[in-house]
Amino acid sequence: MRDNNSSPCCGAAARRRTVLKALGLTGACAATLAGCGPADGGFSDEVAAGKDGGVPLAEIAENSARVVAFGKERVVVVRGSGDEVHGLSAYCTHQGCVVAASGDNLTCPCHHSTFETATGKATGGPAKAPLPPVKLSVSNGVVQLA
Ligand code: FES
Repeated sequence: MRDNNSSPCCGAAARRRTVLKALGLTGACAATLAGCGPADGGFSDEVAAGKDGGVPLAEIAENSARVVAFGKERVVVVRGSGDEVHGLSAYCTHQGCVVAASGDNLTCPCHHSTFETATGKATGGPAKAPLPPVKLSVSNGVVQLA
């Protein structure tokens, strides 16, 4: 049985997220305040979708991945060559912190779980389940949630 309060990061962060959610503070503000933000490496390379709900494909280099904020939802956009993309949930399957993209791996800043960028498969740390896929589409050079 998992004890959500045992972690100095996400136990407290989860409690803060609950409070922030109750206050109606969600998205980037709440996530940053939740304690797993840029200082932990969680959002250092995040990009936000525009008012049209999409992010230009040019924001994600070929053969790389980047965490994108589609409104309140964080998605790892994995780009191959050209406009070939697929998405993974950016929320760690251990306790829900937002992962960071770096090279061939996605790393959780909270307890250092790692995931394969290509597949979302858990490869290390306490997370055992893969990052679930997220459907994306590309239209006119813009990536959006499908
Ligand atoms: S939340 Fe614990 S490893 Fe990601």
